[in-house]
Amino acid sequence: MQVEGTRGGYQEVDVQAVAIAVFKDEKADDGFLKELDVLVGGIVKSVIDSEELKGKEGDTVYLHLLGQPKLKAQRLLLVGVGEKGEYEAAQIAQMAGAAARFLRGKSVKSVALVPRAEGDAAKVVARSVEGAIMGLFEPDKYRTVEKEKRQIDRLVVVVDGADEHAVKRGAERGRIVGESVNFTRDLANEPGAYMTPTNMAERARETANEFGLSIDVLDEARMEQEGMGSLLSVSHGSEEPANLIVLKYTPSESPGQTNNELLAFVGKGITFDSGGISLKPGENMELMKYDMTGGATVIGAMRAIAQLKPGIAVLGVAPCSENLPSGRATKPGDVVRAMTGKTIEVINTDAEGRLILADAIAYAKKLGATRVIDLATLTGAVSVALGDVNAAILGTDQKLIDEVIEAGKQVGEKFWQLPLDKEYSKQIKSDIADIKNVGGRKAGTITAAAFLKEFAEGISWAHLDIAGTAWADEAKPYRAKGPTGIAVRTLINIVDRAASAAGRTSN
Ligand code: BES
Ligand code: MN
Ligand code: ZN
Repeated sequence: MQVEGTRGGYQEVDVQAVAIAVFKDEKADDGFLKELDVLVGGIVKSVIDSEELKGKEGDTVYLHLLGQPKLKAQRLLLVGVGEKGEYEAAQIAQMAGAAARFLRGKSVKSVALVPRAEGDAAKVVARSVEGAIMGLFEPDKYRTVEKEKRQIDRLVVVVDGADEHAVKRGAERGRIVGESVNFTRDLANEPGAYMTPTNMAERARETANEFGLSIDVLDEARMEQEGMGSLLSVSHGSEEPANLIVLKYTPSESPGQTNNELLAFVGKGITFDSGGISLKPGENMELMKYDMTGGATVIGAMRAIAQLKPGIAVLGVAPCSENLPSGRATKPGDVVRAMTGKTIEVINTDAEGRLILADAIAYAKKLGATRVIDLATLTGAVSVALGDVNAAILGTDQKLIDEVIEAGKQVGEKFWQLPLDKEYSKQIKSDIADIKNVGGRKAGTITAAAFLKEFAEGISWAHLDIAGTAWADEAKPYRAKGPTGIAVRTLINIVDRAASAAGRTSN
């Protein structure tokens, strides 16, 4: 799909359909809608006055405009976007996603989007393009019959009167980010058989080569040398070898890098989580193919960062393994030694994510990371606490946590902080080793984070539990059912903001 931004009037854009945002209870008697209404011969006032369209989020009215020479497009989609005062990044992206999905369903090939948001035009265009590209994602790669073949070839986002350069830049950035989110969703959607740790490393390698990142993949022998007994204990039961993917983005010019700060993203890459010897129940186990979403999120974000070329270095680490039972599998009660030297009593082999992250965080630190954000589909408990609306965030550096929350807000992704008082660490005390890998029934998301905290000493650290938000059980008007790509946009924005703060902006 070709993507453009324009400051020109939507009336003039040569496309088949134009999609326009309509606010809640907005009338067609004056302002923007009045002008539109005049152009289309009173049709807008008619659908509003008849209460067919009230502008509620998700409302749509679709019209064929016959013989309306004042609008180049022959079809008009009005998209309700809710309260004007609450129209922010998430709503803009959803408007674009809903419009793109709807119009594709009508075989429309070219679309102009009129988001009608105020503020920075480059950002409005970027959010719209991201939303549209994400909206068009379909997880139907393996369907051969009745496959939807319709496709939008051209998307134009219109912000009237904006700076020409800003809208062009916004469109290009939105395209890069949207495609990278879908890259992550595609990985997350792959069956375990096609997305083994080896496959994941291959995809990371292709990405690194295509966009210019450096890559190092540690195999099991190297992990052994590094003393990563915690990570290796998870892959023990599996025929497929584990690996640790390390991607690095280094800016071509970083004039006078004044500090030794290094930001790192670390993502859980369990390519299939059966629970191991502590086997999961069969119901919904097929979904555990997405237990590598954290790792895929890191690779997807690095894919975008490589193209956006911010002025700061970024490290991306993805520990990858299967979690399967076999005669060689780690058993409940086993004690393993992590890279830091800490010993861990494995009470439950299904609490494997924290075991691989422990060594991956320690390795990021060894590579010089000073700020680490890890992401993982870590606990079922996070769905109980926050459902599929907010991802959980916890950590040891309130500044970093606030930064993630703010960066998320700007791109329409929600993170809610849970507490991490030191009292919770009592729950992971072991009788025979330094710590154990589960903390009992209470506060499951927090005790998982308390475990990770043991390996993030001396660095600024935040942890995102995306188990409840990485997979959509239902389709929405703006998004297919399946992998959501949660946090990819936020990570990219964190890097953008850090580069700006350091005076080394991208583009
Ligand atoms: N991958 C799961 C968590 C998960 C559950 C992700 C549902 C997505 C949807 C994780 O490895 C796990 O099994 N966690 C256990 C931890 C428990 C054994 C302490 C859980 O949440 O039940
Ligand atoms: Mn598990
Ligand atoms: Zn898991």
